[in-house]
Amino acid sequence: MRILAVESSCDETSVAIVEDGKKVLSNVVLSQIDIHKNYGGVVPEIASRHHIENMTIVFDQALKAANVTEKDIDLVAVTEGPGLIGSLLVGINAASTYAFAHNIPLMGVNHMVGHIYSANIEHEMKFPLMAMLVSGGHTELVYMKDHMQFEILGETLDDAVGEAYDKVGRMLGLPYPGGPLIDKLAHLGQDTYNLPRPMLDPNGYDFSFSGLKSAVNNVIYHANRKGETIDINNMCASFQASVLDVLVTKIDKAAKDYQVKQILIAGGVAANKGLRERLSTTIKDIEIIIPSMAYCTDNAAMIGAAAYYTYKDKGALDNYILGGQSSLDY
Ligand code: KG4
Ligand code: ZN
Repeated sequence: MRILAVESSCDETSVAIVEDGKKVLSNVVLSQIDIHKNYGGVVPEIASRHHIENMTIVFDQALKAANVTEKDIDLVAVTEGPGLIGSLLVGINAASTYAFAHNIPLMGVNHMVGHIYSANIEHEMKFPLMAMLVSGGHTELVYMKDHMQFEILGETLDDAVGEAYDKVGRMLGLPYPGGPLIDKLAHLGQDTYNLPRPMLDPNGYDFSFSGLKSAVNNVIYHANRKGETIDINNMCASFQASVLDVLVTKIDKAAKDYQVKQILIAGGVAANKGLRERLSTTIKDIEIIIPSMAYCTDNAAMIGAAAYYTYKDKGALDNYILGGQSSLDY
């Protein structure tokens, strides 16, 4: 089954052609990061406008790169949520129009299911598994007994981990998105600022990152008042050490509690080198799968991968009208 997939939930316009949920024939991603950098974060209205300008170009490039035409496509899949509503609408409109014009079935895909299935492109999921989704909008622990069966065990009570990275980056005067740069600078510094490890409660699976973000803000505020400078590398190392302590402790505990065969890490923050290193040194007795960097941040290949299993689970929609799915409604 050859699927044309569309992703436009945030600031990446992406179209991919994926065969049988596994074989990526093309995955074109046009990022708007350089535009949003000027504002210190994603501006939703600007994101929607750029999706409109870029969508048909990205469509053409993805079809050409895969060397296919509409006649070779069996299903059109599109992210229907969660995400920025204006941005989502651009992708949904483009995908529905393409599907309707060429009489191809259409399927809406949940963005978070896409992140989970991004790990199945280069690896093989083994059940039961414990997934940790760490992105700019979500931080969730999801237990999966089988394909398309999701039980959310815990989630963030306030900021998502990627959001905390980006906001701390902004406090330190780093360009948007802060995540990748904090990860890089953390490797040049030491954990000297003694920041809190929020929600390291041994019994709970929920997360919280806004207190940690405030703790960084307090240190910066008091240093400024005293005329002291912040050692940016050490602050990045301290913040990252705190985040990694929490993430790795939680996933380790959840995986052991549920006796899973595999741990799956996905979402933009799964690109974090410190997280990858810490996971491999801390958890030795359970297989860990993490997508390669290109499939960690938003891309349409993951939507094509998820669409294949979503289709097998519930079949394609045929009315070309999709409704917005809420964040936790897998
Ligand atoms: O999954 P994603 O592309 O978009 C959402 O669905 O949110 O994730 C983007 C997030 C941003 O917050 C970005 O700072 C973070 O992923 N990120 C990282 C790294 N690379 C991207 N965070 C920490 N370390 C990284 N290396
Ligand atoms: Zn995402």
